[in-house]
Amino acid sequence: MKIVLNHKCNLTKDEFLNYQREFSKIKTSHSLVVCPSSPYLALFNLENVALGTQDASIYETGAHTGDIASSQLKSLNVKYALVGHSERRKEHKETEEEIKKKIEKLLEQGITPILCVGETKEERNKGERLEVIKRQLSILNSFETKNIMIAYEPVWAIGTGLVPTIEELDEALTSIRFSCPKSTLLYGGSVSDENIEYLKTSKHIEGYLLGGLSLKLEKLQVFLELC
Ligand code: 13P
Repeated sequence: MKIVLNHKCNLTKDEFLNYQREFSKIKTSHSLVVCPSSPYLALFNLENVALGTQDASIYETGAHTGDIASSQLKSLNVKYALVGHSERRKEHKETEEEIKKKIEKLLEQGITPILCVGETKEERNKGERLEVIKRQLSILNSFETKNIMIAYEPVWAIGTGLVPTIEELDEALTSIRFSCPKSTLLYGGSVSDENIEYLKTSKHIEGYLLGGLSLKLEKLQVFLELC
């Protein structure tokens, strides 16, 4: 399984260095990707773990204050990049057009984009789940999707302790599979060592995108053993 760990905006430098020391004791045969906060990308030194980033610029290098270009990420040995995470869509008003540009730039550098899609609570209540997912995936029409991973992360499940029913999950993932026949499909949103047995009953999940759990290493070890 592909397990992607999204640190979000967490850890100071010393905490990150300590995290890496502790993380190196983790034992697993799953394929791991760690996405630290950007300042720590250059400090990454975990063996047998791939480096990911939480975002990428729509621009090449140049006069773009605060941006990090895909070529710079590549020079740091970044292999994966989250794009279109719901927190960036919401807090940074990211548009579909920008997300598409980010994917283009990443692919040019050989970095695998992990496109995050998923409906809000309101959209779920209105029965618009599949429509939203389809719209968010439509930016991929011009890409070869075998080099793009998709994370289904319902917004209402992030950090809430709630997860979709297996029927909801399977319906969403089947619809994503239809649009992206060759992509690896991840699930994200309140994944924990306590609900992994339940989530495992979905036949369509090929990996997980972890938020909170990525910072709790003892629980992460238990989770990795169960999944
Ligand atoms: P939680 O696992 O904390 O719900 O976060 C999920 C997430 O947003 C990962 O990108």
